[in-house]
Amino acid sequence: MRILVIGSGGREHALVWKIAQSKLCAKLFCAPGNAGIAQIAECVNIQVDDIGGLLEFVEREKIDLTVVGPEIPLSLGIVDEFSRYGLKIFGPKRAAARIEASKIFSKEMMAKYDVPTANFKIFDDLQEAQKYIEKIGAPCVVKADGLAAGKGVIVAKTINEAKQAAVAMMQERVFGESGNRIIIEECLQGEEVSIIVITDSKEVRALASSQDHKRVFDNDSGPNTGGMGAYSPASVVTPELFREIVDKVIYPTIGGLAKEGIDYRGVLYAGIMLTKDGPKALEFNARFGDPETQAILPRLKSDLLEIMLATAEQKLNRIKILEWDTRACACVVCAAGGYPGSYEKGKEISGLDKAAQMPDVVVFHAGTKLLNNKVITNGGRVLGVTGLGRTVNEAIGKAYAAVREISFRGMHYRHDIGRKALRY
Ligand code: AMP
Ligand code: GLY
Repeated sequence: MRILVIGSGGREHALVWKIAQSKLCAKLFCAPGNAGIAQIAECVNIQVDDIGGLLEFVEREKIDLTVVGPEIPLSLGIVDEFSRYGLKIFGPKRAAARIEASKIFSKEMMAKYDVPTANFKIFDDLQEAQKYIEKIGAPCVVKADGLAAGKGVIVAKTINEAKQAAVAMMQERVFGESGNRIIIEECLQGEEVSIIVITDSKEVRALASSQDHKRVFDNDSGPNTGGMGAYSPASVVTPELFREIVDKVIYPTIGGLAKEGIDYRGVLYAGIMLTKDGPKALEFNARFGDPETQAILPRLKSDLLEIMLATAEQKLNRIKILEWDTRACACVVCAAGGYPGSYEKGKEISGLDKAAQMPDVVVFHAGTKLLNNKVITNGGRVLGVTGLGRTVNEAIGKAYAAVREISFRGMHYRHDIGRKALRY
């Protein structure tokens, strides 16, 4: 089969790395890809939001299956468009991707289908929102309805901070139309885990559990990022808890979407807070997590391409179970100086070959590109350095040993990825 993966981050490098191992894969392309992806797949310079350009490429190159990495093309309706032309594609249609693209739609689905989540209220008027903030007090959480590149959620410690967030979203319109409506919700306490499943709307196959690290600095301090590292499995998620999350969050959501006439095919990612009152859904994403995917896929023994194909054809029942490596996996993100604020690009990266040759290590590229045969930085999250080990502790040790071989000017990373797992 001829395959196209859309995207250019660490998640897409992991997808390409895994798909390339499939016996079904004859030729692999990635649009636009990065320097690491270019070692496995042929990169084509088409941007992820250029639906017309991607469609033209797929028809010309006779691609058998397209795999969508990021949320932007999904929310632009790439799956609807490709399906109209009879092209096979892995990912939800636009109406289904609203589970991520509209936080209000997502919360309304949760409320309607009894998915446990934080109490919330929706506002389209700033004064009303501010009154409500005064009423419920702090801490509380303010969320812009639409996509905001992962920045649309403010966990406010004070009433003032919450009101300012509402002003920024609704009046200053820092996220544009995404802030037309906002959600104000109860602040939940607990440990966060990511539960990611693949579904064709009829069947569900859960991926291994994982945990992300959203804050930029050690001990979960500093501002939120796209994710500074991940590990799998999340030791806090016992098999019983896993079942409970799938039963209370995943099934009602997919079933609820089906009742609304939405046939959900692709990845459903649930961000879960483990509260003292049980697991509660924080949010859904319509795609694989980044960097969770880099910590999950090295553990997957089953053929991912076969699973994706079965999903796109709505024949996921063909895949009986997913097989997993019992080893643990940890991924440490190496970020550019200044990230998640403004940062520079174009720094030369050294030590990549040495790190990649270490046993049980995979170096996934995120923001990199090739310039005159040298790999340089080209984004905020630059690399996802991944280690496999018999225990989480051993996996962490392998990942950090490899990180120490790598350097570029301004590079920073967290030193405590996976440490939470060691308490269990
Ligand atoms: P989201 O984009 O909805 O995942 O939100 C980003 C992050 O904000 C989550 O990963 C949580 O850490 C935090 N968050 C979102 N909603 C809540 C909530 N109701 N209570 C506490 N933290 C939250
Ligand atoms: N790692 C969080 C996300 O992919 O949204």
